[in-house]
Amino acid sequence: MSLVKRSTHGCPGGLPVLLLTACAVAASLAGVPAAAAEPSTLHDLAAAHGKYFGSATDNPELPDTAYAATLGSEFGQITPGNSMKWDTTEPQQGQFSFTKGDVISDFARDHGQTVRGHTLVWHSQLPGWVAALPASQVEAAMTNHITEVAGHYRGEVAAWDVVNEPFNDDGTFRASPFYNAMGSDYIATALRAAHAADPDAKLYINDYNTEGLGAKSDAMYDLVSELVAEGVPIDGVGFQGHLAVQYGFPGGMQQNLKRFADLGLDVAVTELDVRMQLPADAAKLATQATYYRNVVEACLAVARCVGITVWDYTDKYSWVPDAFPGQGAANLYDENLRPKASYDAVRTALGGDDEGGGGGEPGALKARYRNSDPAPADNQIKPALQLVNTGAAAVDLSTVKVRYWFTGDNGVSSYGTWCDWSPLGCSTITHRVAAMSSPKAGADHYLEVGFGSGSLAAGSSTGEIQLRLSKTDWSNFDETDDYSRTTGTSYADAPKVAVYIGGELAWGIEP
Ligand code: XIL
Repeated sequence: MSLVKRSTHGCPGGLPVLLLTACAVAASLAGVPAAAAEPSTLHDLAAAHGKYFGSATDNPELPDTAYAATLGSEFGQITPGNSMKWDTTEPQQGQFSFTKGDVISDFARDHGQTVRGHTLVWHSQLPGWVAALPASQVEAAMTNHITEVAGHYRGEVAAWDVVNEPFNDDGTFRASPFYNAMGSDYIATALRAAHAADPDAKLYINDYNTEGLGAKSDAMYDLVSELVAEGVPIDGVGFQGHLAVQYGFPGGMQQNLKRFADLGLDVAVTELDVRMQLPADAAKLATQATYYRNVVEACLAVARCVGITVWDYTDKYSWVPDAFPGQGAANLYDENLRPKASYDAVRTALGGDDEGGGGGEPGALKARYRNSDPAPADNQIKPALQLVNTGAAAVDLSTVKVRYWFTGDNGVSSYGTWCDWSPLGCSTITHRVAAMSSPKAGADHYLEVGFGSGSLAAGSSTGEIQLRLSKTDWSNFDETDDYSRTTGTSYADAPKVAVYIGGELAWGIEP
């Protein structure tokens, strides 16, 4: 029923919470049962969590009417891929051109979408005249650029990537005409200028390879902590999310987003895509779907994660093949604008039905956990787990493994493990403890659970699996720091318990 669709579509993400709430109420007042509703869009599903789901786009692809139709209907937010960058907006000093950027902000207005402005200060796609300026003139040129561009889009752009990519991968500041002229002070100066030009826009610093925990995200964390402490106007941190199946999923993404949110900042995934070495195959596409799902799960788990933007939604218009020769297939839809398994993974992760667009998503299991152990300092750990099949097809349980991470604390490192009860029958359930070769915070061992046989039907749960482990010397644990443990005593989705299907991560975030 289009009533539901339209009523939520008038509710772009990124707008004040009050408006979103009003829209959510309006949608529920429509009183249309979910089963009768037209399938909701990715943005509708995200909006039900108070978040937006967006896409990059650009002028050259908008004449493609099939492309534009999906861009306008499925997404609640858009980001211009190039047309608000410095080389487009101020190609010669003092000569501003907003024609291309205006096409994007007009499209957004026509489709009830918000715009993330991208980007005011960046070392790349910067016209030569900036680098040629004497150092003494760079600050004035930067401030003027920000004043004109953010001023032009005042009221049109909800959030600006004020500074893009300020760091090298080792966490040192990246050399640029701005850094070279002003040192790292250019960042605060740029944020203040953007705030003066558009006091209502949310102001972000944006970078890549900062999604997980690591040297580069530590550097970003130190920078924004300082900016916050100094009262510099900054509202959020953007995590680009240009991932690749061959490099693994960033470690600790959820914890990383959370620590930035704990500074009182919004966080957003701003340029998500997951590339692979071509040709694509079923295994790579399944891993890709898992990565997309992991990102959505990480954002959903952090209240101040305001939304996710994919760096264009289709392989047809991806930047990847140009930027990374030999790689591609990075997006949610294929080159013929057909949704892939990653699209289904995002839908299901957002709580929607799997529409089967990708021809079956292999990784549709989720883990639920409850803490059935009231004593965190005794000699046993007692996780209770359930697996739920959230997909459209049955899953062969003999291909499934589940991992629960903990620290062994002091004492021996040999373990006994038990299945105490399960409606599946404990005899079909395997369990063992393994040591991690590179221990992480809260995790140096994991309990691995498997299944000798059985099949889990679409929509079904295994029911409870009560597990228990101890060290062979029966020395005590300190469970309070254990990675996978929560204190919840009733079942809840457990993103820190991982599920693998055929050896591939299908659910959860590894430590
Ligand atoms: C990319 C665009 O998508 C390409 O069309 C362009 O040729 C190069 O830039 N990080 C960013 C984006 O912040 O601006 C980049 O966009 C992708 C990487």
